[in-house]
Amino acid sequence: MLSPEAHARILSIDGSAALEVPGVRAVLTADDLGVVGGSGRKAEPLARTEVVFAGQPVALVVADSEAAAEDGAELVFVEYEPLPAVVDLEQAILPGAALARIERSADEADVAMHGEAGAGEDDEGTERVSANVIDIVAYAEGDPEQTFAECAAVVEGRFRTSWIHQSYLEPQAAVAWPEGDGGVAVRSSTQATFWTRSDLARVYGLPIPKVRVEAATLGGGFGGKFGVIEPLVVGAALALSRPVRLVFTRSEDFVSASPGPGLVIDLKVGARADGTLAALEGRVLADSGAFSDSSPVGFAGGKLGGAYSFEAWSVRTYGVRTNRPGAGAYRAPLATPTAFAIESLVDELARRLDVDPIELRLRNVPAAGDLRVDGIAWQATGLRETLEAVREHPLWQRRDDLPENEGIGLASGLFPGGRMGASAVCRLDSDGGVTVVSGYVDMSGTDTGVAAIAAEIVGVPLDSVRVVSGDTSEAPQAGVSGGSMVTYCLGSAVALAAADAREQILRYAAQQLEVDQADLEIVDGSVRVVGAPQRELSVAAIGSRLTGFGTSYPPVQGHGTAVPPDLAPSAAAALVRIRVDRDTGRVELLDWVAAQDCGRALNPALVEGQMHGGAVQSIGYALYEELVYDEDGQPLNGSFLTYAIPRIDAVPEIQTLIVEVPAPYGPLGAKGIGESAIVPGAAAISNAIRSATGARLHELPMTPDRVWRSLRSPAP
Ligand code: MOS
Repeated sequence: MLSPEAHARILSIDGSAALEVPGVRAVLTADDLGVVGGSGRKAEPLARTEVVFAGQPVALVVADSEAAAEDGAELVFVEYEPLPAVVDLEQAILPGAALARIERSADEADVAMHGEAGAGEDDEGTERVSANVIDIVAYAEGDPEQTFAECAAVVEGRFRTSWIHQSYLEPQAAVAWPEGDGGVAVRSSTQATFWTRSDLARVYGLPIPKVRVEAATLGGGFGGKFGVIEPLVVGAALALSRPVRLVFTRSEDFVSASPGPGLVIDLKVGARADGTLAALEGRVLADSGAFSDSSPVGFAGGKLGGAYSFEAWSVRTYGVRTNRPGAGAYRAPLATPTAFAIESLVDELARRLDVDPIELRLRNVPAAGDLRVDGIAWQATGLRETLEAVREHPLWQRRDDLPENEGIGLASGLFPGGRMGASAVCRLDSDGGVTVVSGYVDMSGTDTGVAAIAAEIVGVPLDSVRVVSGDTSEAPQAGVSGGSMVTYCLGSAVALAAADAREQILRYAAQQLEVDQADLEIVDGSVRVVGAPQRELSVAAIGSRLTGFGTSYPPVQGHGTAVPPDLAPSAAAALVRIRVDRDTGRVELLDWVAAQDCGRALNPALVEGQMHGGAVQSIGYALYEELVYDEDGQPLNGSFLTYAIPRIDAVPEIQTLIVEVPAPYGPLGAKGIGESAIVPGAAAISNAIRSATGARLHELPMTPDRVWRSLRSPAP
């Protein structure tokens, strides 16, 4: 049962009436769950003495049927003492603001971990801020004031972006059951098997071997499925020594999961007369929601510079605790809203300087080694190639030849992606099939890319490769299915495992065919002598022999373990044509061209699918999606009836331009492409509105009322 209050003390919880309902087995509160460690939301699956957002789980009613559990939950009586809800970021940071959390708790330890425990003043001790500010991150380089003074054009703006739900089609779900000798297993909708295992072990004080996590194949998670539901279900299974299942309803998922947070961005950018981006100054208020483990500051500030580098900059990001759910990741975390700000201003600079917007962006493609605003060095990216691909497109060529109220907009987007070590096994089965085993989660079709890597490297047909995702007790270590890491990082391990398997196959075939191994090739599932293809041995025959009785050779099993030595950022560009209805403010999308650098398209259909999906989600970010909370912190639109995602009639035909600039360390040159696809879309739509009407939008989503108002105060 979920808290109806956004912020309140819990005075009492009475589950006695619920326990009278036939079929109800237990009413569990925080005290029953036996949490012993961890921090943040995972260590507080049920509220303890204080609820900190409307929708926070307060008690679990466990019953033999869903109906009985629902009836029971109606009869759990909780007495609350309401406290002021903190929802406005600007108010929340002021000294003396009401606090979003009173209780000093496991969450506090986490704040201390970030080195901001006092949070009474900033890191230089010069600025008074509220204790709601749980994190401050600052980046600076050079002398921005001096550099702004040297600029030929300086533009600035305040941009606001909304809380947004990942809106995966499958709500979060998990089933947990006790397992031998005090252990527990959980099968869930997680994006992260091994992380979830570590979290659960920490939270419930269990040794790692006592926790087993199995993942279900996911259609999507988009960053929202990182351990919200598992601590609840596992806690209940341990407390009751029974299997327990929990499936969020859609509205439960809306109000109590971990959506992407809203930002308030003040950004100022200056360029030299030739279009060189020179100076940047920014302040970001990033809504952390109620938990500090999800503080989004690290993601926000570092992305303010977009896909570019500058000569001098100063960026301050404030993580602000409010009475909303804990902020989670959402596909390319915070790159879409920060791209909305920087790409809007870059568009304005192109206008001020009268430089072609693609030309201006091309002049500012970072060279490898240039610094991002977070001080990390850029790697080479395919940014230039994606912009060049878009420049050739007929839609760009005829951008000045449009009817009234139509506009064309362009934006770049980039996501650096992550790096995690991963391992895989690649074995040859008795039927000649190749099985890849790893402990990762198959999400949004990633298995097909993994299979393509193994098939190409071993030299067997794609349909003879199977990918098996095992659980954390039996499968090789894997990273999370997130951060654009599956193809790039796990794929690297799979490539090594496949090469190892190939080597073993060739070694055996060389002995059997009595030729030098170097004279062999594997073509279409058969090992052949180069130049004498009639001398061959099928991979299927090898699989059969080496798994049979009496073989003198060991079975083929390749192993790969890897972590790429550097990131492989994927660049994207969106080019859109829109029409604005001046009477209503409604924006209609007419054309969409998406260009993206994927390094190497292992499965072109899947790459296009990611580009389509990213474009559509960026349309949601741009025009529709916003989790609305009232001044008391009450969610007002926690269902698909009232939370608008783009419907098919809002989506234009999306043309995809796949760009392939190989990643030096990627498997077969491939990069992770899941995230950058969403990044440029909202900015491109905003730039198109500017081009159609002269109005510069500063708030996402750009709903008809906002566009209509903006039309009455066009940009200077
Ligand atoms: Mo992601 S936003 O790392 O699933």
